[in-house]
Amino acid sequence: MAASMFKLSVFLSLLSNLNLGLWPEAQKSVATFPPSCNSIECPSYDSIEVGNGYEVRRYNSSEWISTAPIQDISLVAATRTGFLQLFDYIQGKNKYGEKIEMTAPVLSEVQPSDGPFCESSFVVSFYVPKKNQAKPPPAEGLHVQKWTSTYVAVRQFSGFVSDYDVGVEAAALQSSLAGTVWSAAIEKSHGADHTTIYTVAQYNSPFEFDHRVNEIWISFNLEE
Ligand SMILES: *[C@@H]1O[C@H](CO)[C@@H](O)[C@H](O)[C@H]1NC(C)=O
Repeated sequence: MAASMFKLSVFLSLLSNLNLGLWPEAQKSVATFPPSCNSIECPSYDSIEVGNGYEVRRYNSSEWISTAPIQDISLVAATRTGFLQLFDYIQGKNKYGEKIEMTAPVLSEVQPSDGPFCESSFVVSFYVPKKNQAKPPPAEGLHVQKWTSTYVAVRQFSGFVSDYDVGVEAAALQSSLAGTVWSAAIEKSHGADHTTIYTVAQYNSPFEFDHRVNEIWISFNLEE
């Protein structure tokens, strides 16, 4: 019951953009354990360093089910489109007709466009519960991504995600990383690709107005 209510509320969260401007500018903090992860499954990670305005985590391995790239001018709209596909998937619209437990976070990977009026590209992903990782059901239009050991530089922000905030928070993460070893590692890992690819991780349903946790992620590999 609780799980299905949660599914419903996450579903509604992504269908509605409840950013009504009623909430004051949220406190910025790093390294709050997302409260949702106490009640539903999240990928586990090790915190490698908590710095000034960022946290670096290592996700040992994780599996995600992802949409094809979605072209849109809005992350909020693209996330809604992608989440609808993923919601159908976990409700059993997959090759095995299998239902899958809700998890967090939902990721929206952003590949920004070159011009102000161009569409960006978004891939929306859902974390596959451990129980299903050995054999995630295939589904049309979706694909499985297996992450091996992956480092992620993280910045948390609160409130309801809006298109405006996403760019601001991503820029803030990038500037807090400037001059650190992580910045160099990210540059090396991303190589010749000069577009700044980052990801927005969302953990909450729309009816939670308190303690909301969202994150900007910049993923990279580290040669050890
Ligand atoms: C990740 O792998 C390392 C090395 O094998 C291990 O020490 C650590 O506990 C693992 N972390 C998680 C979150 O599973």
